[in-house]
Amino acid sequence: IVKDKEFVEYISASEISSRIAELGTSINSDYKDKRPLFIAILNGSFMFAADLLKEVAIPCEISFVKVASYEEMESTGNVKQLIGLNETIFNKDVIIIEDIVDTGRTITKILEEFISLGASSVEVITLLQKPASNDLGDKIKYIGFSIPEKFVLGYGLDYDGLGRNLKDIYQLKD
Ligand code: PRP
Ligand code: MN
Ligand code: MG
Repeated sequence: IVKDKEFVEYISASEISSRIAELGTSINSDYKDKRPLFIAILNGSFMFAADLLKEVAIPCEISFVKVASYEEMESTGNVKQLIGLNETIFNKDVIIIEDIVDTGRTITKILEEFISLGASSVEVITLLQKPASNDLGDKIKYIGFSIPEKFVLGYGLDYDGLGRNLKDIYQLKD
């Protein structure tokens, strides 16, 4: 469906939306007396962030940072920050929104930075998580789906810039 590769449907739009409703319920109860600042990591998380925030029923803020580490299908390990943060993180309860945690390099770098800026708490919510980051353990508080080590796209996730617009998540056909 994009470029030269063949993909098969893997997680449907309706499975995604029911899982997001559950994640929203957890956040609403965990942050009941707080006012979290969500920070979505662009580009990949834009669709997940929009749908997740519709399930959040407590007062909250949202902002965005843009970083990139992937080229085509490989996580390069070289995490570049392309658009920075305008908000004060100090004393805020920050929830970082990711579409996927793969090697964990992006999220590790961002966690370090936000903790050093004096957030009162920093948690991570990711729609997808791959085995390469299993050792991050409790650093990722909310996980939508733990998935095998296979390339995925759709619902914000891209293959060389394409496929972010797809409603469902697809997996590379082997
Ligand atoms: C992808 C994805 C995560 C990160 C995960 O972003 O959206 O941010 O890689 O990989 P890691 O755990 O191995 O660091 P990418 O760098 O491709 O930028 P994009 O969101 O603009 O696609
Ligand atoms: Mn990303
Ligand atoms: Mg990408």
